[in-house]
Amino acid sequence: MQIVIAGSAAEVGRLAAAKISNLVRERPDAVLGVATGSSPLAIYGELASQVRNKGLDCSAVQAFALDEYVGLPAAHPESYHSVIRREVADPLGLDPANVHVPEGTAADPAAACEEYERLIAEAGPVELQILGIGANGHIGFNEPTSSFASRTRIKTLAPQTRADNARFFDSLDDVPTHCLTQGLGTILDARRLVLVAQGEGKANAVAAMVEGPLTSMCPGSALQLHPDATVIVDEPAASLLQLSDYYRYTYDNLPDWQRFDG
Ligand code: GLP
Repeated sequence: MQIVIAGSAAEVGRLAAAKISNLVRERPDAVLGVATGSSPLAIYGELASQVRNKGLDCSAVQAFALDEYVGLPAAHPESYHSVIRREVADPLGLDPANVHVPEGTAADPAAACEEYERLIAEAGPVELQILGIGANGHIGFNEPTSSFASRTRIKTLAPQTRADNARFFDSLDDVPTHCLTQGLGTILDARRLVLVAQGEGKANAVAAMVEGPLTSMCPGSALQLHPDATVIVDEPAASLLQLSDYYRYTYDNLPDWQRFDG
């Protein structure tokens, strides 16, 4: 796992965006895995600015979202259909036909999950998966004790996750109780993983993910199984890492061929 400790939250976004724009310039029809939440917003902002000002062309990129709430109509402003369209697809100029989100209102959620896995398999593998991490260590909506072998499926949201996401809704009662999420096994199938985290509230989860035991109690620790995972964090999110000096030293001494920050 490569750990990058960035000087600011904005720098986290800039570094992660560099990895993605390098990929898209090389492979304009790359398959990207996209995440919702506050953490990746700086990435999308930076990419959108490159689309506007630096000739980055995302019109052939395919995107697969990690997850969706069950029961929220796609048109609801907080459905991940809406969030991905607002924060990613529109600003980056993706073709709506190339943007995929699990069907949270499907009459048969299990069949919708199978169909989502089929779509990813058909288009994939996902070349680069963007990830955030929940305060309880979840990635996607794989809550603690999710199987490392899990595939896209219906999950019950942890009370902490519902409370964390209540800020996007009028009240806690409005936050759905269930979701469809890519499994940890699905996420691990991506060729590259780039996880970003900012702020002190993520420090425990980041330390558990990077330096803690491999355990389903911290679903993010599944990244330890992946051969090409990069974790980009700001100083507060890195504050509980025991080996932070080593990660800084490693990054400062990266050989040129491993650099991605332009
Ligand atoms: C959300 C999403 C995750 C996200 C995480 C952290 O609910 N399902 O994909 O990474 O929780 O969210 P945030 O970045 O807003 O802290």
